[in-house]
Amino acid sequence: MQVNYKNPELMLSGAVEPQEVAWQSPSNIAIIKYWGKHGRQLPRNPSISLTLNEAHTKTEITYSEKEESNKQIDLEFYFDGKQNPMFAEKIERFLSSILNIFPFLEQLKLVIHSSNSFPHSAGIASSASAMSALSLCLCSIEQTLFGTLSDETSFLSKASYVSRLGSGSACRSVYPVAAAWGETQTLDDSSNLFAVPCSAHIHPIFKSFHDDILLISKAEKSVSSTAGHGLMDGNVYAASRYHQANARFGALLEAMKVGDLERFGTIAEQEALTLHALMMTSNPAYLLMTANSLQAIRLVQQYRKETGNPLYFTLDAGPNLHLLYPDSVSADVSGFVKEVLQPLCENGDVLCDVVGNGPERYL
Ligand code: DP6
Repeated sequence: MQVNYKNPELMLSGAVEPQEVAWQSPSNIAIIKYWGKHGRQLPRNPSISLTLNEAHTKTEITYSEKEESNKQIDLEFYFDGKQNPMFAEKIERFLSSILNIFPFLEQLKLVIHSSNSFPHSAGIASSASAMSALSLCLCSIEQTLFGTLSDETSFLSKASYVSRLGSGSACRSVYPVAAAWGETQTLDDSSNLFAVPCSAHIHPIFKSFHDDILLISKAEKSVSSTAGHGLMDGNVYAASRYHQANARFGALLEAMKVGDLERFGTIAEQEALTLHALMMTSNPAYLLMTANSLQAIRLVQQYRKETGNPLYFTLDAGPNLHLLYPDSVSADVSGFVKEVLQPLCENGDVLCDVVGNGPERYL
């Protein structure tokens, strides 16, 4: 599909009253993992994720006419109510990099307030929720000032495209329930440029699925996801991994369509372990799981064997386990998590989440 969001016409010709826009956007958990990229944030393989509900970012932008006319981004950035120079610099660099998509940004003074529903030091990635919340705000500003994104599908495709430029996994956060990103024969309209919604293709059992995040360690990761993607370029298993991801994508989508939990869970766990195997076979090789991650994995597998309950795990690029299970077994799983798994977590912290309905505009 040909997509060109570069639009020099999105420039203001008259005065702008100060206005506000705000979006809340969730995090997501990938089941088929995006790991390896090229060009400008293009994935090496298709990925699919469940959209979360509780873990989200709220971003509010006040925009008004900029006094000076230059090509600079005029930004004040607050995180949790406090100015945050490190985040501000990152956001400013991102906004400068998308000036050809939103040229009007050089005409505005922006004051951005952002906060996460989860503690910053929880060891869970915030780039997906943060970048999608910001991108949704930018698309809303475009719609308010130019009326060019009134069609919901076009609005969300563009928000997803822009989110992707901020952080690959963020492009999947703009859709409810589940989203897929990356070209694949298995899914019509799939694209490397933005994610597409998958809710219509999946069995209702996934719409009330749980994801309990075991915070095994809250320490900052020794290797960032971005650096990890980079190491895939020299990984000897890269080509077969991309091939495998395509095959698993098709199998997973089929399992999700029919509600085959065993197949879903088996693929989810294989993907998690493959992701970490790729880290262990990178050069330099690295390891993000800890002894407690392994212990938790064994206990989950043992619980499943003993109870027959469909409890599965996945991992993101860190030591924390995401426990995936249908609502029907939640009472039993809760007891197991409290008694057996919680002691393996840093300060006993577990974040209980569920599949959610996607971002919401609240201003
Ligand atoms: C393991 O989206 O954080 O969570 O595009 O460099 O920002 P950048 O990377 P990021 O990578 C996420 C990797 C993952 C798998 C996934 O979410 O698909």
